[in-house]
Amino acid sequence: MPTFSATSTAPVNIATLKYWGKRDVKLNLPTNSSISVTLSQDDLRATTTARASDRYTQDKLWLNGTREEIEKKPRTLTVINELRKARAEMEKADPSLPGLASLKLQIVSENNFPTAAGLASSAAGFAALVNAVALLYKLPHSPTELSVLARQGSGSACRSLFGGYVAWEMGSKDDGSDSQAVEVAPIGHWPSMKAAVLVVSAAKKDVSSTAGMQVTVHTSTLFKERITNVVPQRFEKMKKAIIDRDFPEFARLTMADSNQFHAVCLDSEPPIFYLNDVSRAAIRTVEAINAAAGKIIAAYTFDAGPNCVIYYLEENEQAVLSGLSCLNGVSGFPQVSAAASGDDRWSQQLAA
Ligand code: DP6
Repeated sequence: MPTFSATSTAPVNIATLKYWGKRDVKLNLPTNSSISVTLSQDDLRATTTARASDRYTQDKLWLNGTREEIEKKPRTLTVINELRKARAEMEKADPSLPGLASLKLQIVSENNFPTAAGLASSAAGFAALVNAVALLYKLPHSPTELSVLARQGSGSACRSLFGGYVAWEMGSKDDGSDSQAVEVAPIGHWPSMKAAVLVVSAAKKDVSSTAGMQVTVHTSTLFKERITNVVPQRFEKMKKAIIDRDFPEFARLTMADSNQFHAVCLDSEPPIFYLNDVSRAAIRTVEAINAAAGKIIAAYTFDAGPNCVIYYLEENEQAVLSGLSCLNGVSGFPQVSAAASGDDRWSQQLAA
């Protein structure tokens, strides 16, 4: 039998309404719905090649050139098993298909940016893995159906199955079959949206998202208020702001949600600190940029790390970037990625 091979890329997404907390740890079911903007693959992406061959004796995985033991990665195992199950069902329904489900896999994945430094590396990584194996297996799944599989690898990965503006609906079913990503608005709906990525630190974070969010779930009282009374309304308002292309509203909600996410981290026991002095200086700088403009033209957001992503519209690029140039302590500044800029390479590949 020949060696079967497929390669796919997946973009990074940066949440504007944060996922923080799991109601089911094993299935990666979240305590709240979330929203993100997908960044251009030209700047930040994961690329994965999956191969299947009867010469392989075990499944193997390499991440950024280092061999990883799949057996010690239960979430990766779950994702591969689910994809394989889907292929086995196809082969059962059509026995003329080559028997790929019974072959071992070799998977090679590379990020072109720092891993685990709060730049959504697991999101792009798991989405690229799911894309590549789905292509290899020629699965007929829609991006939303694939998002259910990617979610089991890393929650935020489900949102990297789409370009543009994406919602992860938390769902209500116990088996997680309705906890999936859907498109809020396609690539090109709001093409002037841009993102400046300020790399404050490329170091691996102290507290992983997976561990940190469950400390918050179990100990923070502010967290209960957030998931019950704040996020559900914010979810609807943010979708509307995107559909209406209302930047000030989108920016206000984005900054408020980043701040509340870091507030629930601080309210956890023991407290979790992701922001550092440079992060706080970035917040003050964005406040100053908006004050000087007399309106909101820039929105900061931080994931589980000190790196800052600033959303702005292209027409305000000069004001935003010159304002940011005063910041000290930022390396590689500023890496500018067009958000939702018409990059449809991923969907073309999947359709191939
Ligand atoms: C702060 O998706 O990395 O970036 O599901 O445990 O893999 P796991 O967590 P992960 O958490 C991301 C948290 C966040 C917010 C977000 O992307 O929505």
